[in-house]
Amino acid sequence: MIFCFTATGNSLYAARQLGEEPISIAQELRKTDRHYQADTIGIVVPLYEFDLPRPVAQFIAESTFDTDYFYIVSTYGMHNGGIAERVSARLEAAGRHVDYYNTVIMADNALQVFDMAEQIALDPEKRIDEQLAAVRADIEAQRHYIQPALQEEVDFYEGYMKHPFALRPDNDNPLYYVSDDCIGCGTCSRVCPMQCIRIVDKRPVYDYDICADCYACIQACPQKAIHFVNFDEPNPNVRYRNPHVTLADLVKANGQS
Ligand SMILES: Cc1cc2nc3c(=O)[nH]c(=O)nc-3n(C[C@H](O)[C@H](O)[C@H](O)COP(=O)(O)O)c2cc1C
Repeated sequence: MIFCFTATGNSLYAARQLGEEPISIAQELRKTDRHYQADTIGIVVPLYEFDLPRPVAQFIAESTFDTDYFYIVSTYGMHNGGIAERVSARLEAAGRHVDYYNTVIMADNALQVFDMAEQIALDPEKRIDEQLAAVRADIEAQRHYIQPALQEEVDFYEGYMKHPFALRPDNDNPLYYVSDDCIGCGTCSRVCPMQCIRIVDKRPVYDYDICADCYACIQACPQKAIHFVNFDEPNPNVRYRNPHVTLADLVKANGQS
């Protein structure tokens, strides 16, 4: 049993390569009673600000997992900040034993910082399928392993925490504006894992109080009509979706179940 949270498909692709078609965390979060039982249970999710995305942390904290082998894989783009050791220790302290935690470097979809064209070009260097094959072999062998935090990554994390770049929008501090290029197609609302976008008069209206700032909407907009209020993107002309994942896959993973 594999659970996945995804905005642009990296974690969905990774989960599929690790085993089976994953169960959507976004959709499971809409259910009240969450108890899962399987020989092996995995969580494959992106890394946000060196940590689990907030909805994923909530999903783990508020669900029960009855399993012999519990693993987490975080996909990330540049620096993992030593997440495996730190988050495993935090989960252990909260009573959730993690047997295996590893990270896989993929394209970085943080488009307020990175040019998506450059990220797409970097993909082959990252040897993603080799990383995923190694993780898959570990999981099949039920290896017990928590990826050690490199000192360089700990330094990076600690440096970041002194000046965190958290966006944390709410309804008084919107994250995005929508340009006149919007055609009201509703793609943004269909890919949103938190279902925080309604289409009103052919325009997206956000409920930022439940937004996970995952950028699924901005990345999937076919008109590139969604932009950050407070940042100029390095390249507003290119958006990212994992090359093995279709828009329909993202809608299936994040939309109405
Ligand atoms: C809000 C946000 C924060 C992120 N923070 C980090 C980070 O701290 N370090 C990093 O290497 N990548 C970071 N990323 C990049 C993602 O972890 C990476 O691109 C991931 O593979 C995306 O997975 P997805 O396609 O399944 O959504 C961040 C992305 C977003 C949207």
